[in-house]
Amino acid sequence: MPDRDANEPAKLSPRNRFRFFPQLNDLADQRWLRSNAKLSEKAAAVHFNSDSLQDALMQAIADQRVLSIKEVIETFEFFARVRKTIKAECVADLCCGHGLLGLLFAVFERKVNRVILLDKFEPENRAKLIAAASAVAPWIVDKVESQQAKIETAEALLPQGCSIISAHACGVLSDRCIDIAIAKESQLAILPCCYPKSACDAPLAIRTAFGLEAAYDIDRTYRLESAGYLVRWMEIPEVITPMNRILVARLGSSPRC
Ligand SMILES: C[S@@+](CC[C@H](N)C(=O)[O-])C[C@H]1O[C@@H](n2cnc3c(N)ncnc32)[C@H](O)[C@@H]1O
Repeated sequence: MPDRDANEPAKLSPRNRFRFFPQLNDLADQRWLRSNAKLSEKAAAVHFNSDSLQDALMQAIADQRVLSIKEVIETFEFFARVRKTIKAECVADLCCGHGLLGLLFAVFERKVNRVILLDKFEPENRAKLIAAASAVAPWIVDKVESQQAKIETAEALLPQGCSIISAHACGVLSDRCIDIAIAKESQLAILPCCYPKSACDAPLAIRTAFGLEAAYDIDRTYRLESAGYLVRWMEIPEVITPMNRILVARLGSSPRC
């Protein structure tokens, strides 16, 4: 079989295709998507230049130079996969960092009327990001609130039934998101990362056969299922990050917040 032309886009499996920005499926060099460089006006003009709401938001983020290309793309792709399952009147983005994931729910999901951005630390750029998003989507202004708090204290701060979301809550922070979702009878979507090197409760056979990272998520899945959830695994495109597994957990019926 002849080698693929270097300028030809790689063929992506359906699971690895970009959903929010399908134009990215045709990029010849997808390494750009995992860049830690800030999304720039120049890049936005090339890739996100339509009048759509999502492109307007990308242009606003680029104007402020507040987020890296990787963070923006992975967050949009995570959101695209979980938004319909997770949308609720209230959504809490835990270990939110800049808070883009929560903001996307405020911008794009009409049903969501309260978004709590919770982190133990508030990066300077979060306020700039909220301002940029508010300029494009003024309806989010009264929906979004920041809470500076440790996740260990979050349960007391969140309303019952409020959906729990988190992108890259490192290591056991993803487990704390699960604890909170179970206690609050909430829908949950997490994109775990930085798996601990030990203390995985999965049986040795599972750890050996599937590796520690999958074993952690298998164990998390059993834990959620035994608490009454139906769990699905999804992926964001691996070209953005190898830590691309999403766990989405849904209760049959959840209280409104
Ligand atoms: C890898 S960053 C992810 C940030 C963001 N969700 C994203 O996708 O870019 C992990 C975040 O967890 C926060 N964090 C770490 N320990 C925490 C804790 N105990 N309680 C709350 N937030 C914590 C950090 O401040 C940081 O913003």
